[in-house]
Amino acid sequence: MSLWRVLVVEDESFYFSALEKFLKKDFEVTMVASMKEGLSALSQSRYDVGLIDLKLPDGSGLDLIDKAQKLQPHLVTIAMTGHGSPQMALQAVQKGAFHYLTKPFSLEELKHLVLKALRHHHLEKENHWYQRELKHKYQFENIIGQSPAMMDVFKLIEKISQSDSTILIRGESGTGKELIARAIHANSDRVSKPLVTVNCGALPEELLESELFGHVRGAFTGANVTRQGRFEVADQGTIFLDEVGDMSPRLQVKLLRVLQEQKFEPVGMSQSVDVNVRIIAATHQNLEQAVEEKHFREDLYYRLNVIPIVIPPLRDRLGDIPLLLAYFLEKFNTEKKKNVSGFSKEVKEVLGHSHWPGNVRELENLIERLVILKGEGEIAAKDLPAKYFSSSVIQGKQMFFLPPEGLDLPSVIASVENELIEQALARTGGNKNKAAQMLKLKRTTLVEKLKRKKTQKAFF
Ligand SMILES: Nc1ncnc2c1ncn2[C@@H]1O[C@H](COP(=O)(O)OP(=O)(O)OP(=O)(O)O)[C@@H](O)[C@H]1O
Ligand SMILES: [Mg+2]
Repeated sequence: MSLWRVLVVEDESFYFSALEKFLKKDFEVTMVASMKEGLSALSQSRYDVGLIDLKLPDGSGLDLIDKAQKLQPHLVTIAMTGHGSPQMALQAVQKGAFHYLTKPFSLEELKHLVLKALRHHHLEKENHWYQRELKHKYQFENIIGQSPAMMDVFKLIEKISQSDSTILIRGESGTGKELIARAIHANSDRVSKPLVTVNCGALPEELLESELFGHVRGAFTGANVTRQGRFEVADQGTIFLDEVGDMSPRLQVKLLRVLQEQKFEPVGMSQSVDVNVRIIAATHQNLEQAVEEKHFREDLYYRLNVIPIVIPPLRDRLGDIPLLLAYFLEKFNTEKKKNVSGFSKEVKEVLGHSHWPGNVRELENLIERLVILKGEGEIAAKDLPAKYFSSSVIQGKQMFFLPPEGLDLPSVIASVENELIEQALARTGGNKNKAAQMLKLKRTTLVEKLKRKKTQKAFF
């Protein structure tokens, strides 16, 4: 077990031995009796707490506090003064001592203060720890996570980046699929070559075809020049096919051929083009179901799904939230030149148990807005949009938080309603009949609510 390290600088023999005996029980203690020894101890090993007598035989404890802080910025110091020198105690605090003890003090009082100092120290250490650990352990490129699921994803990325295997990234919207595709490319041998991203869901079939494979002049009306496709641009590099589940059956065939033979024909050309491209595909769709329903080719599914990476929704890895909060807070403080110090306990509690239908993107956007609106100080419960108070799920159970200053019930209820309606519509692809069924509403009631919603001001 690693113990907290306490340095005691005390020349009075009574206190010296009493402190040594008492502190040894709980801490790793180094006892010295002069300023000189104190300085040499501080330059040799690291301490968590320094108990410093202000009157030392070879100098002032105030100077030692000063020097100690320069040598070990994380050291928490407690000054000990003889009674009748409140001025010096005050000066010590002004110099940065955490607190002071006036002699005679009880050992219990001392212990209480040291523990308090350690708690304080521990928090600072956590901050420091966050900065340091983040870089090594809980961050891959700029992907943050400490949940077992994300750690597995990091390990997997490390393992597979160097290979040329096709990767299929699955995850709800906003879970970081694109971020992961970038990290894989960045860690591959192809890093000096292009990473080309194509959103297959954003373009109609013909445009997507010429976007991906290029076309020759005159291939179709409007094709005035010969144009290289994205696959050619990505030669020797990586292509990221986002929303691959949205591809039309005809293009699925063409993509399959690229996967099998690294060959394709640009639109209007009979000769095929060879490329060496690594394919990373992503989708938020349930591809197995799409295969079953014959929207997605089974052979293509297997070709793409060589290495599957599944990013769980944020609600299933709530343990990542504290790190994400700290990360985005720092990011937006820097980007927006703001000085928000942190989040209150309640805010952490509420955000740490929210449902997050929009996953990390939703969290990121929320923190950006909160940082801009708040500007400085701590983000408190009243700064949070009401819906977060109502959509928290703890261990699968819906929880409702009443913020300390109360809330506006009608607006909370309205926002819960909006949220659930939006989710129902999203899940049914905008089908009002099915959405109404899911919500056990009459279709007319749902339509009525939607109308009202439109005329209402958006809540946040
Ligand atoms: N683990 C994470 N750490 C830090 N930022 C993240 C993380 N996951 C996602 N983000 C951020 O959240 C936002 C959404 O991520 P990204 O675009 O990669 O998601 P996506 O899964 O591709 O979403 P969509 O399916 O909607 O395209 C980005 O701004 C991204 O930087
Ligand atoms: Mg994306």
